[in-house]
Amino acid sequence: MRCMTFCIICPKLVDSRMDQPTYRNTQPKSMTNNNSKLKGEPSKEERLPDSRDGFIMIQRLYNGGAWNRGIFLVGDEASKKLAICKMLYPLIGSRNAFRESGILSRLQGHDNMVHMYRHCITYSENRIYMEYCKGGDLANIIDAYKEACCRIPDSFIWHVAESLMRALCTTHMGIWKEDRIEAPRKDWDPIYHGDIHERNVFITTPFTDSPYPRIVLGDFGSSHHNFGELDSNDQEFVEQLRKRDIVNFGATIHALRRVGPGKLKYSDPELDSLIIRCGTGMTDTSRIKIPFANEILGSILRSRETVRSRIKLEPLIKDFCDRKL
Ligand SMILES: Nc1ncnc2c1ncn2[C@@H]1O[C@H](COP(=O)(O)OP(=O)(O)OP(=O)(O)O)[C@@H](O)[C@H]1O
Ligand SMILES: [Mg+2]
Repeated sequence: MRCMTFCIICPKLVDSRMDQPTYRNTQPKSMTNNNSKLKGEPSKEERLPDSRDGFIMIQRLYNGGAWNRGIFLVGDEASKKLAICKMLYPLIGSRNAFRESGILSRLQGHDNMVHMYRHCITYSENRIYMEYCKGGDLANIIDAYKEACCRIPDSFIWHVAESLMRALCTTHMGIWKEDRIEAPRKDWDPIYHGDIHERNVFITTPFTDSPYPRIVLGDFGSSHHNFGELDSNDQEFVEQLRKRDIVNFGATIHALRRVGPGKLKYSDPELDSLIIRCGTGMTDTSRIKIPFANEILGSILRSRETVRSRIKLEPLIKDFCDRKL
């Protein structure tokens, strides 16, 4: 069978990996709960696939999801930096691999998106190589705080809210600016993530000396884009996709907020207002107005300004600090 390979390297990102941990001096830790499945004698499924594309296979981190056959920790042979390889199934998985890699290329260089290094899509195999987010996902933070019986600091939850809403301002509206909220781009083909939740939001090293880690949106496997001309039925469908992202954003913030002992009375009521504005918890969102990402980002920035004086910056619990994010 003729084998067609598309192999694309993003040179800009090879340089930006300088801050990533190297695979010579790092003992990769288990990151997801699924790692418990990986103990004992490796089954066929657990055996590492062949190394290729300039990356060495190191460890399986995740056994596979709806469309992928595993997430692997890999090392870049040239730079010796760690990275992630997401392997997607051939055929139906190829469509997803094209979509996910296409979307990640459109979002290259955004602070709050997972950065892709390379993708290889063939008839028999699909691999997407991306930055390794050393802190795992938000569900790992939730689990660590549940275990320690502590509340997640409000200041960290605000940081996640701002980071995720910056990501949504870009995907939904093409707004990229860091310092101010621009008008939406008229020529932007929106991207709706479709699967925002705690396991698809990753945590990694900040670019600046920020007290908190960088929060990035990943797993664009269920996303929608390339809408083109829309008739009124399509517009309604697209509006539902937009609303779903905002509602799921609110649910993610709520999931962080409800961790820990006691009532929520010590926590910030403005976080509650934010969650309610996003329509989270409503059974039918088709008839209610749900704000656009830029409106929500505007109110997050205003609230953060007012709460800054009363919400103190608290470090994350020891387990996360030990990861030296
Ligand atoms: N870049 C990354 N850095 C660190 N961990 C990652 C990264 N990408 C994925 N993971 C880990 O692997 C898990 C699964 O990855 P991902 O969400 O991309 O796949 P999935 O949910 O199985 O996707 P799909 O629904 O497309 O099959 C994540 O929840 C996270 O714990
Ligand atoms: Mg996922």
